[in-house]
Amino acid sequence: MSAGFSQLDDRGRLRHLITLDGLGRDLLEELLQRAEQHTSTPGEVPARGDTLRGWTVAILFAEPSTRTRASFELASVRLGADVINLDMALSSRAKGESLLDTIWTLQAMQVDAFVIRDAEAGLHEQVARHVAPHVSVISGGEAHVSHPTQGLLDALTIRQCKGGFERLAVAIVGDIRRSRVARSAHRALATLGVPEIRIVAPPEMMPDAAEYAGARRFESLDRGISGADVVMMLRLQHERAQGAEPTDLAAYHRDYGLTAARLARANTQAIVMHPGPMNRGVEIAPDVADGPQSVIRRQVANGVAVRMAVLAHLAEARRKRAP
Ligand code: CP
Repeated sequence: MSAGFSQLDDRGRLRHLITLDGLGRDLLEELLQRAEQHTSTPGEVPARGDTLRGWTVAILFAEPSTRTRASFELASVRLGADVINLDMALSSRAKGESLLDTIWTLQAMQVDAFVIRDAEAGLHEQVARHVAPHVSVISGGEAHVSHPTQGLLDALTIRQCKGGFERLAVAIVGDIRRSRVARSAHRALATLGVPEIRIVAPPEMMPDAAEYAGARRFESLDRGISGADVVMMLRLQHERAQGAEPTDLAAYHRDYGLTAARLARANTQAIVMHPGPMNRGVEIAPDVADGPQSVIRRQVANGVAVRMAVLAHLAEARRKRAP
C-alpha cells in the first residue's frame, strides 16, 4: 500500500481487500470465523445467504484462473448478488480502452464490487483510488505480490485440520520468489501466530533477504520439511519467470518434488497443501496429491467460504458506513 491509501474505513473494517499486509489478527480471525459459517460438506446443499441482495459483483480477470474466478462467482451468487464475469482478453480493453474507463463503464451499471486479477503490481490500489466511495475492490491475485483470499483460505484449512496455529511448523516449498500465494500465506500465518514458518526453495527461487521476516530458509527440501506439520507445495511460475525457470523438470522433481518417501520426513500427521493448479510429477507426485494427507480439495472448498466471508464483511461494513 502506498502512503495516503488505506483499505480500511474509519471503524477498521474493510473497504477493499487488496493485501493482507497491515491487517490485524482480530480482523483475520473474524473473517475465518465468518467463513466457517459458510462452509458446507461436499454433496450437501451449499451454504447460502442474502447479505449481497441488491449488489452487483464484477469479476475482471486478465490472467488465467479456475479456482479463484469460479469461487468468487459462486460466493457472490450464493449470497444473492448479480454477477458480471468478464474475460478481459475479450473485453473492450482489447480495442484500446483503459482499465479505468472499463471500471467507470461498469460502475455506471451500478457495480458494487470489482474482483480483479492482473499481472501488474499496484493496479488494484490504483483502481481502488478511482472508484466511487461505496464501491469495493478485491484482489483475486496481483502479479507476484499478493493473493489475499488464497492466504485466508490456506489459514482456514490449516486451522480446521490442526485446531489452531500455535506450535505449528509450516513449510512453504517451491518458487517462492515469484509466488503471490506464498507471500499472502506467510502474511496470514505470521499474523495468526504460527511460530515457525519455513521457506524452502532452490537459490534462484529464494526471495530477497528483506522479505519473509522471521521465516527460516532452507535450500534442501529434505531438511526443510523435516518434522513439519504442514507442507505447502507451490508450482513453478513459468508465466513470471521470463526464461529463468528450470528447463529440466525431471531434475526439479528429483530435488524439489514432494514424493511419498520425502513426505515421510515430515510429522506423521502432517497435511499436504497446494493452491492449484498442480503440475503433477513436477512439484508433487500424483500419489501424494491424491493421498490421505492431502487437503488440496478442502482448500478449494474453503475458497468459496472465504470469498463469501470477505464479500459479506464488505457489504456489512458499507451498510454501517451509510448515513
Ligand atoms: N489458487 C489459484 O489462484 O488458482 P486459480 O489460478 O485456478 O484461480
